[in-house]
Amino acid sequence: MVCNLCSSLVSVFAIFLVASTSYAIPESEVKTICNQTQNSSFCLALLMSNPNPNAGLVNVTQYTIDVARANVTNTIKLINDLIGHSNGSSKSHYTECLDHFGSEGALGDIDYTQEMLQKGDYQGVNVAASAVSDDVEDCISGESPSDSPYDDPSDLPKYAAVIQSVLGVILVLSKYLRH
Ligand SMILES: *[C@@H]1O[C@H](CO)[C@@H](O)[C@H](O)[C@H]1NC(C)=O
Ligand SMILES: *[C@@H]1O[C@H](CO)[C@@H](O)[C@H](O)[C@H]1NC(C)=O
Ligand SMILES: *[C@@H]1O[C@H](CO)[C@@H](O)[C@H](O)[C@H]1NC(C)=O
Ligand SMILES: *[C@@H]1O[C@H](CO)[C@@H](O)[C@H](O)[C@H]1NC(C)=O
Ligand SMILES: *[C@@H]1O[C@H](CO)[C@@H](O)[C@H](O)[C@H]1NC(C)=O
Repeated sequence: MVCNLCSSLVSVFAIFLVASTSYAIPESEVKTICNQTQNSSFCLALLMSNPNPNAGLVNVTQYTIDVARANVTNTIKLINDLIGHSNGSSKSHYTECLDHFGSEGALGDIDYTQEMLQKGDYQGVNVAASAVSDDVEDCISGESPSDSPYDDPSDLPKYAAVIQSVLGVILVLSKYLRH
C-alpha cells in the first residue's frame, strides 16, 4: 500500500518536474505575454516553436529576433524577385521597399535590436524593434501620411504582416525583460 502510494507520488512528482522544466518561462507567463500582443495565437505558436524548451526570457527574445531576421531576409528575396518582374510605378514601389528592408532599413535595425539585447539594453531592444516596424510600415504605407498606399497585388503585404506580428512579440518581450 505504502509503496504503491510512494511510487505514484514519485511519478506525479516526475511528471510535475518534466512539465515545470519544459519552460524556463512558465507556460502561464508565456500566455500572459502573448495576451498582450495583437495576435495571441500567432504569438503562442511562435514561442512554442522555439526548439530550445529551457530558454529563459533573454534566449526567447533572441529566438524571436532570429525569426524576424529570417522573415526580413525572405522578404528581401521576394522584393528582388518582384523588381525583376515589374515595370513602371510597381517597379519604383518595390525599389523603394528594397531600401526600407535593406541594411539601411529593416535588416540593419534588426542587427541593432540584436546588439541591444546582447548589451542588456532592453529599452534599446524596444526602440530598435520599433524602428524595424517603422521601416516595414514605410514600405507598405509610404513614408508620409499623405502618401497613398500602393495597392500591392503581390505577397509582399502578407510577408510584411507576419514581420509586424513577430515584432509585436519582441516589443512585449522587451517590456518583460525590463521588469
Ligand atoms: C487577456 O487580457 C484581457 C484584457 O486585455 C484580460 O481580460 C484577460 O483576463 C487576459 N487573459 C489572460 C489569460 O491573461
Ligand atoms: C493571427 O495569426 C494567425 C496565424 O498564426 C492568422 O491566421 C490570423 O489571421 C491572425 N489573426 C489576426 C486577427 O491577424
Ligand atoms: C542562451 O543564450 C546564451 C547566449 O547566446 C547561450 O550561451 C546559452 O546557451 C543559451 N541558453 C539556453 C538555455 O538556450
Ligand atoms: C517567418 O519565419 C518563420 C521561421 O523561420 C517561418 O516559419 C515563416 O514561414 C516565415 N514567414 C515568412 C513570410 O517569411
Ligand atoms: C509592364 O508590366 C505589365 C504587367 O506585368 C506588362 O503587361 C507590360 O507589357 C509591361 N510593360 C513594359 C513596357 O515592359
